[in-house]
Amino acid sequence: MKVGVVKEIKPDEYRVALTPAGARELVQRGHDVLVEAGAGEGSAFLDDAYRAVGATLASSAEDVWREAELLLKVKEPLPSEYPLLREDLVLFTYLHLAASDELTHALIDGGAACVAYETVETDNHALPLLAPMSEIAGRLAAQAGAYFLEKPLGGRGLLLGGVPGVAPGRVLVIGGGIVGYNAAVIALGLGANVTILERSPDRMRHLDEILSGRVSLVMSSTLQIEESVVDADVVIGAVLIPGAVAPKLITRDMLGAMKDGSVLCDVAIDQGGSAETSRPTTHSEPVYVVDGVTHYCVANMPGAVPITSTKALTNVTLPYVEAIADHGLAEAVARDPALARGVNVLHGKVTYEAVAEAHGLEYRPLEDVLPLAPV
Ligand SMILES: NC(=O)c1ccc[n+]([C@@H]2O[C@H](COP(=O)([O-])OP(=O)(O)OC[C@H]3O[C@@H](n4cnc5c(N)ncnc54)[C@H](O)[C@@H]3O)[C@@H](O)[C@H]2O)c1
Repeated sequence: MKVGVVKEIKPDEYRVALTPAGARELVQRGHDVLVEAGAGEGSAFLDDAYRAVGATLASSAEDVWREAELLLKVKEPLPSEYPLLREDLVLFTYLHLAASDELTHALIDGGAACVAYETVETDNHALPLLAPMSEIAGRLAAQAGAYFLEKPLGGRGLLLGGVPGVAPGRVLVIGGGIVGYNAAVIALGLGANVTILERSPDRMRHLDEILSGRVSLVMSSTLQIEESVVDADVVIGAVLIPGAVAPKLITRDMLGAMKDGSVLCDVAIDQGGSAETSRPTTHSEPVYVVDGVTHYCVANMPGAVPITSTKALTNVTLPYVEAIADHGLAEAVARDPALARGVNVLHGKVTYEAVAEAHGLEYRPLEDVLPLAPV
């Protein structure tokens, strides 16, 4: 199969959908890999690295779009790319279609098979192509918390890990999922005193097994949050209720009781944020202050570390890319229900129920639109 990789054109997006290591795997399996010149630069993968593993470099994005049978991207197509969509193309990328009416219609009109990273879902409801971005955001949140505690940056002027003879700072993580666990691990590594509030008993048991004795694990409730934020130097908002906006667990009143110069890293900001006072910020202006509390609410945290993010993303996408390239989309989805759940739009039909619902469009089950090849 001809597999294409283009440079991302969304502002501040430095990731690329395939590393040279991934290109090598595909070439080794007999596929042609066509990469737009400069596509990997933002992630420190230069053109020569792709050439060296047998990929072909193309001077224009249009050439890659036209020649590819399977096009790999990181972000959704932008309006300038809509005319490049076509019937016999498989597009594999993050799409987040429920959030965009315009994009959904562009993909329907374009006729391509559009497979979204974020809805590839295993039978036990794990989202393998979202998990690495949560891992990165969680780890970054602990770093950001430590950094913005520094006095010249408006913080309390506290070293999170303390020193011998001086107590460490306190980190409160609300939500012990992937983000929360990773934030806790890095905060622990920095030497902080860490508490995780979680409301799923099963998740709590799991965290107890892997972190026992190293963090305080406490059942989350409004009262508990109210009491815990008062002592915290860094609060990390890491809750998720699937398919819903984040609950506003930290109210304006609670903020008033927090320490002056403490830091709130609201990682859940991409779902609306877990504090009443949270609003999305950017890497160029990551923080603002409300009632003496520094709010760090960057909505695309992994964008700050594209080298790591690109490698982590392609580690998890490559097996699916290989499956589509080796077998074609029809057989690949027949072999793997997790990949089948990733197909959002196909031949102009919406094949992902939540996206159809979000835009009041007709939902067509995948098997009605794509005759599944027998395995
Ligand atoms: N800002 C960014 O760049 C960025 C990047 C990745 C993920 N995120 C966001 O981070 C959030 C967490 O993602 P995740 O992958 O860790 O999700 P996850 O599903 O792995 O974990 C969420 C956890 O929150 C817990 N929870 C739900 N309600 C709670 C409550 N009231 N109190 C305490 N815990 C509660 C759940 O039981 C679950 O364990 C999501 O909103 C996600 O979209 C943001």
